[in-house]
Amino acid sequence: MSAATTHPFLARADSILDGLHKTGQYKRLQMIEGPMGPVVRLRGYGERLCFCSNNYLGLADHPEVVEAGIRGLQDFGAGTASVRFICGTFSPHENLERRIARFLGHEASYTFVSCWNANEAIFPTLCEPGDIIISDELNHASIIDGVRLATVIKKGLHKAVYKHNDLADLRRRLEEARANPAVTGVIWVCTDGVFSMEGDIADLPALRRLCDEFDALLIVDDSHGTGVMGLTGRGTHEHQGLTGADIDFFTGTLGKALGGGAGGYISGPARAIDLIVQRGRPTLFSNALPATVACSADKAIEILMREPERVQRLRDNAAYAREGIRKAGFTVIESPTAICPIIVHDTAKAIAMSQRLLELGVYVIGFGYPVVPEGHARLRVQVSAAHTREHIDGLIGALRNL
Ligand SMILES: Cc1ncc(COP(=O)(O)O)c(C=O)c1O
Repeated sequence: MSAATTHPFLARADSILDGLHKTGQYKRLQMIEGPMGPVVRLRGYGERLCFCSNNYLGLADHPEVVEAGIRGLQDFGAGTASVRFICGTFSPHENLERRIARFLGHEASYTFVSCWNANEAIFPTLCEPGDIIISDELNHASIIDGVRLATVIKKGLHKAVYKHNDLADLRRRLEEARANPAVTGVIWVCTDGVFSMEGDIADLPALRRLCDEFDALLIVDDSHGTGVMGLTGRGTHEHQGLTGADIDFFTGTLGKALGGGAGGYISGPARAIDLIVQRGRPTLFSNALPATVACSADKAIEILMREPERVQRLRDNAAYAREGIRKAGFTVIESPTAICPIIVHDTAKAIAMSQRLLELGVYVIGFGYPVVPEGHARLRVQVSAAHTREHIDGLIGALRNL
């Protein structure tokens, strides 16, 4: 018998899991028995209105997106069984990366199996000892871990954190960096475009101005903004009147608005992307995005560019949902995004409310510690362009019955 089935480690695992059960923080995974859409079929529950997916544009089950994936599988098989630089690059990668770069107004892009991977690639690869990375305190966990990893791999690479969306605090960090004799290289400022838990946005024009003043480079992870924000869904920068050229680097995901399959990317200047290809550890030591997923994502972006009205529908739906949630008596964080967090503070309460909503016909997840800080638990309602007014009314009705 393997030692792992009797090892004392298992008693430790039991004790941690018991703690999660006792404090009501234990997460039960729901089984979805069909495609992701505004209505999903959940094992044990049947059809439920889905308000917890990042399927912002309703493209996850779009017939053309599905068909493109099937064609990719037929034409290219399951994969190359190799990393990209050995024998793992297909023409769908090239097509998708060109399309992402064009969509974002950058010279080049490179894809990964996830945006988590992209964020683990960008900092350790592009940053060097003597540089400093200055990061918003509420940046996504993948940025936080990517920055931590970079400072471990590159001794002498510095980091600093500024208070969430606090430009005065960022200015202080920039002044400290410029005054620090150990900071001899590049200053990098890094932010989410849309913050995933709050649903608020970074002030990108102000960040651009500060970066220019301090000769810093700006990295924006717009995973929740791409396909969602701006008139044509280019992202948070478009919403704020900037072009892609105003942002030095984007990271983003293909696992949300852009088809919802999986995958992530870095976009920016061609020479920097070449550095990622040459030196990025996730690039050199991990398999490529499967061709089928690359084909689906490419089609999803093509549809977004062809049908920008999806973005307007999403915006209208989000405004309608926010108003309804407020009228139902809940506090929802205001923002122009499709993330509508209903603050309930206590983790166990958030999880219990989410369970009750499920019984009332609506699938919304309660987020608590450690995904958000203690005391900041919430129900995160996420709206899609695929929702009809009736779907949203169904959500509001269930909230009224809580
Ligand atoms: C801002 C941000 N960055 C990165 C990620 C990770 O994306 P992926 O699922 O592609 O790894 C997420 C996903 O939640 C996110 O919200």
